[in-house]
Amino acid sequence: MTLYALHSRNASVVIEQPQAGAPVLRYWGARLSVTPDQRLWQRALAQSGLDERSELSIAPTLADGTFMEPALRCHVDGRHWAPQWHSQCETADAQQLAFKLHAVNGQIQLNWQLTLDADTDVLSIAASLTNLGPEPLLLDQWLTTLPLPVTMTEVMSFSGRWVHEFQPQRDRLPLGSLEYTNLRGRTSHDHFPGLLVSDRDFQPDDGSVYGFHLGWSGNHRQRLERSQLGHSQYQAGAHLLPGEVRLRAGEQFEAPTLYACRSEAGYNGIAERFQSFVRQHLLNLPDNPVRPVHINTWEALYFDHNQDGLDQLAAAGARVGAERYVLDDGWFLGRRDDSAGLGDWVVDPDVYPEQLHPLAATLKQQGLEFGLWVEPEMINPRSRLFEQHPDWVLDISGQHQPLARHQRVLDLTRPEVRDYLFDHLHALLDEYPIRYLKWDMNRDHVQAADAEGRAAGYRQTLGLYTLLNRLRTQHPKVEIESCASGGARMDFGILRYTQRFWLSDCNDAHERQIMQQWAALFFPAEVIGSHIGPPESHTTSRVHQDDVRIGTAFFGHLGIEWDIRTLDEAAFARMARGIALHKEWRPVLHQGIRHALDSGDDAQLAFAVSHNNRQLVSIFQQRMPTLAVGANLKFKRLVAGQTYRLKPLFEPEKTGHLMKQKPTWMSVENIEFSGAELMQVGLPLPVLDPDTLLVLALEPVHR
Ligand code: GLA
Repeated sequence: MTLYALHSRNASVVIEQPQAGAPVLRYWGARLSVTPDQRLWQRALAQSGLDERSELSIAPTLADGTFMEPALRCHVDGRHWAPQWHSQCETADAQQLAFKLHAVNGQIQLNWQLTLDADTDVLSIAASLTNLGPEPLLLDQWLTTLPLPVTMTEVMSFSGRWVHEFQPQRDRLPLGSLEYTNLRGRTSHDHFPGLLVSDRDFQPDDGSVYGFHLGWSGNHRQRLERSQLGHSQYQAGAHLLPGEVRLRAGEQFEAPTLYACRSEAGYNGIAERFQSFVRQHLLNLPDNPVRPVHINTWEALYFDHNQDGLDQLAAAGARVGAERYVLDDGWFLGRRDDSAGLGDWVVDPDVYPEQLHPLAATLKQQGLEFGLWVEPEMINPRSRLFEQHPDWVLDISGQHQPLARHQRVLDLTRPEVRDYLFDHLHALLDEYPIRYLKWDMNRDHVQAADAEGRAAGYRQTLGLYTLLNRLRTQHPKVEIESCASGGARMDFGILRYTQRFWLSDCNDAHERQIMQQWAALFFPAEVIGSHIGPPESHTTSRVHQDDVRIGTAFFGHLGIEWDIRTLDEAAFARMARGIALHKEWRPVLHQGIRHALDSGDDAQLAFAVSHNNRQLVSIFQQRMPTLAVGANLKFKRLVAGQTYRLKPLFEPEKTGHLMKQKPTWMSVENIEFSGAELMQVGLPLPVLDPDTLLVLALEPVHR
């Protein structure tokens, strides 16, 4: 028996490698100063069960006698379905442990590797299975598995749908299991591949919380299980369709990486760790890390592309402070509406007789970077590509395949399809000074089968990664946004090749406040595309004041999704001010950590972003205030002895409905308070009307 311990800033992991069998994770918790006595996990043996302890290993199989769902489900022509491991340690250094496990006389090999990030405490677990036997190994399931304390019973997962993404849902983990399975082929709106578990009701700054995320952009399954035997586990992996992974002699299956962290101080501890981890280890920003403000043509012009209109929008964008112009859907061959054209990635000469050169010239003149919308994985039956290659789609020959938004999915497992897409995108990137691709993906997979009729969901995702990787390698200065109808492909897997997500097609500030709050548990603000839409939302018809919409989009990677050519001077000035403030606060917004705040009013959504002792605090009144006058808002993460200058950046224009008089401090310009006052006594807030917003800025005063 050998013990291995890894330590990070706040966490330790202890893994025991027994004489025989698979390693067991014995401890994952607050940083240890001693290596615990092994007798501390030699638990009592219950009456009327097996005569030996059954351990929940890092790679459970049906051979274990834990009666829990195994990580591995496989067989060789109906045999070898309950493999028993022998393991050896391959690497054991300060932050990494790697084990090689063998079963079935060495015919099945598992490489399992755990890395504990020294700074952020995030665990990354990679695993791959190799068939070293002569016969094909049918792999039905690999779920990377981590044990949990049995006291973890509260679950927060994230569901949603188009224009209603990132909705938290709470479940209680019974003695039994909970399962979240995504079959949509892309990451999906309805089953985000990550969740939180806790030992009590979720609180921002209190309670033991575990956070998990699977870095995978295809079908996936997450499971939680608690058993009568006192075992509890979290499992996640790519969800494999029937017969999808059949490893011939020597072939390997690579599981998506599982990321996990824990916090003793509520879910803000998870947000802090994942936000920092993404920044430090996943996000690959080109030379200039400053996130440019976008102006996007979609909600401004939709398919109404003409040179004058495009030029005018560019001029208005530049005037208001935008830095990057994204030419959205509608520029390519035959794309006059959403029923045709996907697949034909050449500029439509009917609409653009001189190709995109005049637009490129306008953007250069206006000082705007050029971005372009594409949806490479898709094909419309009404396209030249489909006429030439009707067989290039994922389907089962002879079976009915539904369309979605008039489109079908190209088979990215075929190298010639990937080459076609690469060549066309490469040609565009070569010809024009395009620095940004908005990479969309607007439908789910149904019957995702390759040319032989074999399930292809897993390989399709790998094909996408291969294509993205090739493009990024060839064009390292070109950034890519993962769009997917807004929010349907947001995960750490795609983030290795992309720099931004389009969180939702819904720009309604009310909805965005909710989505942005929960997305912040996993992602830093600079990857969350967040645009200022028109006063009346195109997806909900809700109307919000300019400052509510500006002050909401302000907290992400900012953009404009609005026809601002026709704004009056006052509205123009409000936009320009908001964008200038965003640029001023960009270092805090895009390098700071976002934490949720509990304002004491359930009808409010509050949070703070802090960096280098500067802080922004946002309070959005979602519904009618619960009380006529609420409690003081207690700030967090300030320096107690530091004096801060406090000023509202965005506040409601009209306040007379629910409030006769504002709190006194609001009538003093640049008022100063100490960190101790703001954290211990708190700040009285104005009474806010529903759907209004208050954003406060705190700067340290240096005398
Ligand atoms: C999807 C995207 C939108 C827009 C349209 C264009 O819905 O999410 O932002 O690009 O496609 O067709």
